Amino acid sequence: MNILFVDDENDVLEGYKRMLFPMKDDWPQFFSSNGNHALEILKKENIDVIVCDLRMPIMDGAVLLDEVKKLYPNILRLVLSGYQNDMKAIRATGVAHQFISKPCSAQSLKTTIEKSMFLKKYINNEQMLSVITGLGELPGLPDVYLKIEEEINETEVSLKYIADIIAQDISLVAKILQTVNSSFFGLRVRITNILEALSFLGVNIIKSLILYLKVFSLTDMSPKKINFCESVGKHSTLVAKIAQNISKEFQSEKYLDDDSYTAGVLHDIGKIILLHLPDYEKNVQSLSNNRHLTYDEAEQELYGFSHAEAGAYLLGIWGLPETIVEATALHHQPQNIKHYDSLVLTSVHIANSFVNKRHTESIEKLSLENINFYFPKLDLHYIESINLKNKIIYLYQKYGQIEF
Ligand SMILES: [Fe+2]
Ligand SMILES: [Fe+2]
Repeated sequence: MNILFVDDENDVLEGYKRMLFPMKDDWPQFFSSNGNHALEILKKENIDVIVCDLRMPIMDGAVLLDEVKKLYPNILRLVLSGYQNDMKAIRATGVAHQFISKPCSAQSLKTTIEKSMFLKKYINNEQMLSVITGLGELPGLPDVYLKIEEEINETEVSLKYIADIIAQDISLVAKILQTVNSSFFGLRVRITNILEALSFLGVNIIKSLILYLKVFSLTDMSPKKINFCESVGKHSTLVAKIAQNISKEFQSEKYLDDDSYTAGVLHDIGKIILLHLPDYEKNVQSLSNNRHLTYDEAEQELYGFSHAEAGAYLLGIWGLPETIVEATALHHQPQNIKHYDSLVLTSVHIANSFVNKRHTESIEKLSLENINFYFPKLDLHYIESINLKNKIIYLYQKYGQIEF
């Protein structure tokens, strides 16, 4: 894996050299102090990852990365900067895949690069890249989401302050209150303001609701597309709720329950991206009906990738946690996970198969022998490999039957 470092300060470049010297055999390194020279190197060498400073004279980092994005879309683009505001500004533009704050240790630089290689699995799909880059602007992370993230990173987090940030967007406030007061959340009290919503449901849940409400209700769409978004949105909130409960069942840490919820909300977000393709839904639906393919198999056949990979790509660009990106990418094929300890992926996969159950009166006859008849999306080999087969019926009876 070849890495190119670009920084106008020579001391910084020397620092990287020293830090990564022990890894030079695994990761051949190239160094450049300006954008034009970096582009020369990119022409000659087969670079896999570019780590770039933002503030540089002549050609700044954002311009260079934009150029790299156009010329070599398969190269992973990392930003390393000492200025939080610069990073925030660039985050939603999609010119960088990951962000690292300066100063950083050799270890954290190494971990971020390794983590980003994980994302590379999804950006290696040439067909997906050409389709997605052809769509124009990808939806950026909503501004209000970024502001909340910023506050969460402070040492003393103030819920009141977060509530004030959200309150600036009146229509968002109305939608959040409407959602949390719907019978779906099952709260026994009526929530009348955002501060209450934050204390009852927690910041993470509200954050994923914001993503959901902003992304799933993109404007400028035909009524048909709005309907499609709404049905994906409803499906996703159900998956989220069940996945969160399944996570809790395994006595996980609170943050994992929240991650399972967020991954549930976002697992099908790729469908919303692909909706920008001409006749996406119609084509996928008719192919899957005619040939008895699942929805993602039909996508695979039509475009060479599915909504799962497209969604994971977007979430990776947004810098969401690896567990959430992974759960999104693999929610239909959990057996492709390298390690068997992703509770978030497992919860989302099971929840998704519960929500996509075959609707039939006879579900009381559910047994270990006929699980796949009722839950065609459940990957039984995977469930067996993690010793959960015997728990599936119990999980379904306890958490899987909620509906809107
Ligand atoms: Fe899906
Ligand atoms: Fe789904």
